[in-house]
Amino acid sequence: MKSKKVVLPINKVKPGMKTAEVIFNNMGNIMLWDGVPLDSVTIERLKNIGIQEITVLIDEPRETEPDRNYDSPEIFASSYERDAEYTRNMFLAISSGMALDVNTANEIVDSVLEKSESHRNIIDSITKVKSIDEYTYYHSLNVSMLCMMIGQWLRLDEYHVRNLTQAGLLHDIGKVRIPAGILNKPGKLTEEEFEEMKRHSEYGYNMVKNIDDISPEVAKAILTHHEKEDGSGYPFGLTGDKLNLYSKVVTVADIFDAMTANRIYKSKDTPFKVFELMQHGSFGILDPVVLDVFLTNVTSYYIGAKVMLNTGETGVVVFMNKQNYSRPVVQVGDRYIDTSVSKFVRIKEFI
Ligand SMILES: [Fe+2]
Ligand SMILES: [Fe+2]
Repeated sequence: MKSKKVVLPINKVKPGMKTAEVIFNNMGNIMLWDGVPLDSVTIERLKNIGIQEITVLIDEPRETEPDRNYDSPEIFASSYERDAEYTRNMFLAISSGMALDVNTANEIVDSVLEKSESHRNIIDSITKVKSIDEYTYYHSLNVSMLCMMIGQWLRLDEYHVRNLTQAGLLHDIGKVRIPAGILNKPGKLTEEEFEEMKRHSEYGYNMVKNIDDISPEVAKAILTHHEKEDGSGYPFGLTGDKLNLYSKVVTVADIFDAMTANRIYKSKDTPFKVFELMQHGSFGILDPVVLDVFLTNVTSYYIGAKVMLNTGETGVVVFMNKQNYSRPVVQVGDRYIDTSVSKFVRIKEFI
């Protein structure tokens, strides 16, 4: 589609327009990359931190309007729930003895790809509470959406973004072969149970390896999504140099969604805690380039967010610290508080 570049005052900027140039905040740091689709929350946050005007790309009108606008949280949410329902049906059909239906999988992949410009709604839906029983279905869908976004952030072409979306959706498909008593066990697994659980990667690989519509690289990513860069993962203990890019992306997305779900179920930490754990707890485990691209982009969605500090003051997140994503710079009135320097000042919650 054709688009043109225009400079607009911030109050004329509309959701759906894309940034035409990198946007810097008033401290000279990159806030948004070029080519990023804007939504109403991001526009509001740009206003919050005092941006006056930006250069945007405006699409020339297209001949047929798309029927769904996924920038709308309601339309997005209903489609997300429908995708989760399809994912559940896909899992249940296999556990009742049928072969994986790749057409159903591809329909879900297409539906996820239709939402490829609604990153804000994707991030919001991932961090919402869901029932624990439904975890595997939502997890598969969430990892699929995260893999799609990481592919876009890595600036991969459509073919690879599609494959990544499919790999994310199917990465845990082998879990249908794991007995429910092990899969949903609330307590810690015994060593034997854990050995069985670990086999889901191979079960999944065996289910997809002979399907024409699934690339061998996607199948390989399903087989190796629990391998770690330092060779400490399973099933083979492969090191990073033996893992393909799809596998590295799925691993980052998988860990982020699992940690986010854990945070929702067990504690009231902010997403910043998950960023900190991923940034500082994953050395040697996750691919550093994929992790860096992921954290840089996903954390940028929190710039402009209103927060309450543990001091009781409220402020706006104005800058992410690359060395420590869980401790951003917060503007309170006309003061800038660097929470990475003021060690006792923390973000307590989002408001
Ligand atoms: Fe897994
Ligand atoms: Fe997983």
